[in-house]
Amino acid sequence: MRADLLIENVGQLLTLAGPAGPRRGPAMQDLGIVEDGVVAVKQGRIVAVGKRGGFEGSITPDNVLDAKGRVVMPGFVDPHTHAVWAGDRRDEFEMRARGATYMDIMRSGGGIMNTVRKTRLASADDLVRESWPRFSYMLAYGTTTAEVKSGYGLDMENELKMLDAIALLNVEQPVELVPTFLGAHAIPEEFADDPDGYVDLVVDEMLPEVADLVYRIGEESRPDDPMPAPYVKAAEFCDVFCEEGAFDLEQSRRILARAKELGMKLKIHSDEFRSLGGTALAVELGATSADHLVVTPPEEIALLAASDTIAVALPGTPFGLGKPEYAPARAIIDAGGALAIATDLNPGTSWCESMQMMIALSVRYMRMTPAEAVTAATINAAWAIDREDQIGSLEIGKQADILILDTDDYRDLAYRYGTNMVAQVIKAGEVMFEE
Ligand code: NIG
Ligand code: FE
Repeated sequence: MRADLLIENVGQLLTLAGPAGPRRGPAMQDLGIVEDGVVAVKQGRIVAVGKRGGFEGSITPDNVLDAKGRVVMPGFVDPHTHAVWAGDRRDEFEMRARGATYMDIMRSGGGIMNTVRKTRLASADDLVRESWPRFSYMLAYGTTTAEVKSGYGLDMENELKMLDAIALLNVEQPVELVPTFLGAHAIPEEFADDPDGYVDLVVDEMLPEVADLVYRIGEESRPDDPMPAPYVKAAEFCDVFCEEGAFDLEQSRRILARAKELGMKLKIHSDEFRSLGGTALAVELGATSADHLVVTPPEEIALLAASDTIAVALPGTPFGLGKPEYAPARAIIDAGGALAIATDLNPGTSWCESMQMMIALSVRYMRMTPAEAVTAATINAAWAIDREDQIGSLEIGKQADILILDTDDYRDLAYRYGTNMVAQVIKAGEVMFEE
C-alpha cells in the first residue's frame, strides 16, 4: 500500500481507540496506548496504525517521520471557545485584582457588554485580523479543531458579522472551526428594560435566519460539475448563557427549544455562578453538551451522568477569575458521566489558548488523573462538538490530526505546565507547526 506519510519509532502512541461512544467513568482512564507504534497517513486520513513489526513492511511511504521515541497522540479538540472578539478587558482584570467581582463588573455595564461595544465597531475583516493570532497560539499548543461562538454582536447584523468572521477564519487558517450561535450571551444594553423583548428577537428573527444560513466554500460549481460545491453551516449549534443577570431558565428554554425545532444542535452555559436548572434543561432537550457546571447540584449531576449530554468543564474560568471552586469533575466521572474539558477562551474570564494548561488545571483542581484529562481533551471533546466520527482518536479512517510531543511520557502534559510540550502539529496529514 502507498502512503503519503509514515510516522515511526513512536515511544508511546496514544490511540484513544476504544468502544463506540464517549468514554465514561473508568473508561476515561484508558488511552489505548501502543508502545513502539507506527501510524500511516494517506490523503489526510489515517490508513494504518498499530505496533511496529506487524504491517508497516507492506507500506511504501513518500515521507517518513522519525518520532525519536517520543509521544504521538491525536490533536487536541477545544470544544468551547469565544475566540473571536475585538479589544481587551485589561482594565476590568485590574479591577478584579483590586477586589471587584465578575458579576459586579457585569452589573455596572462592563463585562460581556464591554466587548460587545468594541466588537460592534469592528468589521468582519477586522475581527479576522485581530483574532488570527489566537488561532496561531492554539495550533502551536496542539489544538487542531476548536468550537467558536458568536455572542459579542447581540443584534442581527453583528451576530451575522461574527459568524462571517468565524467562517473566514475557518477557511484561511489551519485550526478547523465548528461554529456556534450564541445570540443569547447577554441582554444587550438597548434591551435592559425589556429582556423578554430581546428573547423575542432571538427566537422570532435571529434563529430562523441563522438556522438556515450556509456559506459556500471552494469554487462555484458548474452545471456539469460531478460534485456540487461544498457548503458549510454558518452555525451548527445554538448556545445560551443560562445565568442570573443573563438568561433565566424559561428564557433559555424558549431559545433552545426553538433552535431545536429549527434543526440546530444545542449547548448551554449552565451553573457557572448560580444554579438555575440549566443542566436538567440540557438533558431534557437532548443537548450535545452542558458547559461550566461549577455549582451543579448532585441531582443534576446524576441526571447529566446518566444522559448522552457531554459534561464540559472549563477550569481556565475559575483559574482566570482567581476563584477556588471548580467543576465537580470527579463526581461526574465517578457517576459514569462523559466529561470533556475546554479553554473557554474569552477576553473576560479566561484568555488562554492552551489545552495543555487545561490538562494541568484539571489534574490539580478537579482531581482528574493525567489519562482522564487527555481523554477529556481529545475523544470526549470531539463528542462534545459532534465530530467523533472524524477526530479525537488515531483510528483507521479518521482525519490525520496528530501531535508529536517533546517527551516520552504523556503524563508530562499534566505534570509540567506553562511550557509547550508540543514539538510538531500535523493537521489532515500536513505538518502545520514545528517548534
Ligand atoms: O463562558 N459565561 C459567559 N461567557 C464567558 C465569558 C465571556 C466574557 O466575559 O466575555 C464564559 O465565561
Ligand atoms: Fe463560555
